[in-house]
Amino acid sequence: MALHQKPHARDAQFDDVYASTELSVRIPKYTFPEHQRDPRHVYGLLQDELILDGGSRQNLATFCTTWAEPEVRQLMADCFDKNMIDKDEYPQTAEIENRCVHMLANLWNAPHAASTIGCSTTGSSEAAMLGGMALKWKWRERRRAAGLPADRPNLVTGPVQICWHKFCRYWDVELREVPMEGDRLILTADEIASYCDENTIGVVPTLGVTYTCQYEPVKEIAAALDRLQAERGLDIPIHVDAASGGFLAPFIDPELEWDFRLPRVKSINTSGHKFGLAPLGVGWAIWRERADLPEDLIFDVNYLGGHMPTFALNFSRPGGEIVCQYYNFLRLGKEGYRKVHEACYETAQFLAREIGKLAPFELIYDGHGGLPGAAWTLRHDADAGFTLYDLADRLRTTGWLVPAYSMPANRADLVVQRLLVRHGFSRDLGGALVTDIRRAVEHFARHPIAAPMTEHEAGGHNHAGRARHARTTASIG
Ligand SMILES: Cc1ncc(COP(=O)(O)O)c(C=O)c1O
Repeated sequence: MALHQKPHARDAQFDDVYASTELSVRIPKYTFPEHQRDPRHVYGLLQDELILDGGSRQNLATFCTTWAEPEVRQLMADCFDKNMIDKDEYPQTAEIENRCVHMLANLWNAPHAASTIGCSTTGSSEAAMLGGMALKWKWRERRRAAGLPADRPNLVTGPVQICWHKFCRYWDVELREVPMEGDRLILTADEIASYCDENTIGVVPTLGVTYTCQYEPVKEIAAALDRLQAERGLDIPIHVDAASGGFLAPFIDPELEWDFRLPRVKSINTSGHKFGLAPLGVGWAIWRERADLPEDLIFDVNYLGGHMPTFALNFSRPGGEIVCQYYNFLRLGKEGYRKVHEACYETAQFLAREIGKLAPFELIYDGHGGLPGAAWTLRHDADAGFTLYDLADRLRTTGWLVPAYSMPANRADLVVQRLLVRHGFSRDLGGALVTDIRRAVEHFARHPIAAPMTEHEAGGHNHAGRARHARTTASIG
């Protein structure tokens, strides 16, 4: 190195990250960088930028894991190179995935849990696509076998998460989303007969409706479909969207019959990264019996010297989340999951009680019988001086993300605020949230907003970009 360059090299080696030349300027954001940079500087830069996302533990909109044991973080690092699709190269990761499939089938009371079929996915959305496709393929097979037209399939649901809208649009299926009416904010057995016909590929009840946290009554819906079969000869299967409830009900309410104990339930999806407590990026789709997944949806891929059946939508996919899912199964078992979730329910019920005591609010969901969360609205007669969008905005000043959104048809008039309590949210943090809500309400009582924020305006705000539309909000998962 030339003599005159030496001081530069020395500076570059010893300078504090924040005293470095590289971090003394704003970096260009939208043009591809020409030169390399010091990894310490880039890491510092990124760490700083990520602060602006806020603390995910204060994000009470999400259903997803935001706290994990150190062992989970270590396993994620250990597995950073595992590609789930390379079953030939990573046979043990594949074996672990397979064990998880059968453990879940067992947890959900599949009649032949050891031999049934299922797979991991990137989340419930992909798992829902697979469940929906199986329903469509099976329906088409039946129609063709009977010499009947198979060109106008429909799917009957309650107020579903956006993934079902996507499924129907992408796979050309008419979505019959039974609208909410009055105080009925979920699908019940009463609506089934009038929405189903010979073109219905399936009914999808949700165990843990995204908007209100409630469970739809799967058993009653199955019984209504039994009656429909007896009366009109229509044999319509059920796929349960148990994105959240699939990892709650078996531990908290094991007597609740929503799963493969009901013969009409042919498939179930869940998100491992929600109440399954795995890190982000894993879902599961499980079929009641092997025959419920049509053979022609399964690809047999000749890959790297081996044969492997695949029926996920993606090809390459990280394996760490699946290994961590298995870690949770072994680490927690039914006992551990029950204890973790019970703690969440107790905090959610505490929050619901405290929020319900505040004059302007009326509870819609109090943390019992569905997900560990709470949902509330403003009383009709509350002259509150704010909307729930204003409250969401105000809570943001202390870091809380508690979304407000309007319901879908036919209750678009109803604006709701909702929170979810997840692993890692202590009673103490809950107490801090209640204090901040109370302070916000008192603040608005002293300084009522002359022109309270509407849903449309809330959409213009950064955070409310997630919270503004019912559908967008509901998709926070
Ligand atoms: C009921 C329901 N279904 C499906 C999904 C989509 O799940 P994922 O985010 O795992 O794709 C969600 C997400 O919140 C949900 O609540």
